Amino acid sequence: MIESDRDKIKDIPMSSSDTLIVQSATTSNGTVPLLSVEHASKVYESERAPVRALDNISIQIGSGRFVALVGRSGCGKSTLLNLAGAMDFPTSGHIRLDGVATDQLSESQLTALRREKVGFIFQSFQLLYTLSVIENVELPLLLAGHSDPRPLAWERLHSVGLAELADRLPHQLSGGQMQRVAIARALVHSPRILLADEPTGNLDTTTGNSILELLRQICKENKTTILMATHSAESASFVDTVVKMRDGHIEEIVRS
Ligand SMILES: Nc1ncnc2c1ncn2[C@@H]1O[C@H](COP(=O)(O)OP(=O)(O)OP(=O)(O)O)[C@@H](O)[C@H]1O
Ligand SMILES: [Mg+2]
Repeated sequence: MIESDRDKIKDIPMSSSDTLIVQSATTSNGTVPLLSVEHASKVYESERAPVRALDNISIQIGSGRFVALVGRSGCGKSTLLNLAGAMDFPTSGHIRLDGVATDQLSESQLTALRREKVGFIFQSFQLLYTLSVIENVELPLLLAGHSDPRPLAWERLHSVGLAELADRLPHQLSGGQMQRVAIARALVHSPRILLADEPTGNLDTTTGNSILELLRQICKENKTTILMATHSAESASFVDTVVKMRDGHIEEIVRS
């Protein structure tokens, strides 16, 4: 498949009914969407009643799209991000990343898929506090066995505007700077999809908006798909599409 074909795929909104149907795993020109969620349900077993966190969700998202997941606490946003990043699997239905069903892979194939194609950022940044900024950014490359991670880590740090803070420790940074480091780390291996769980949740509105602007820029310049769970009312003006969730369902898909 050629790259330009991938880029033509946009997120394909489904109907807004509770039983959303994906017409096909491929688009009309025969290409595969980067992320395809197909009738995915997720039920967590608990001591009391099982929790149905996702209920028969279907959506397809193409390369270079910036998509916000919004909805009340507990509606299933983080659960969907975890399935999209192959950190967890649906109880029924399928998640395909680049056409590959995540529930069909061996442990080693899953590790490779996550390392090559997925980046994660979180509300709490999750930096390693004993490592310097540059060491945090190069960590995913080191773990993947990269022999010379420093130049790539520098490049990424530069792209988020923090090259001059490379030698600091995370506790010497502001919240917004810590999130930029986390973004650089999540992007250092050039993933196809960046999953962001409330990336502005610990930031004031101005700093949060600068992070949203940075994510938008990354999405458009690198054609990285970004799926972001958020409570930020401001996010709608930065993303291409807002997916409104409620009680494990997709309630509405709104294109900005
Ligand atoms: N490991 C788990 N075991 C049992 N129930 C879980 C587990 N993880 C999540 N849940 C439940 O699944 C539902 C969806 O949770 P999820 O974390 O996806 O919501 P969310 O939309 O991300 O909420 P928030 O906005 O508060 O982060 C909730 O009812 C939650 O309590
Ligand atoms: Mg959540």
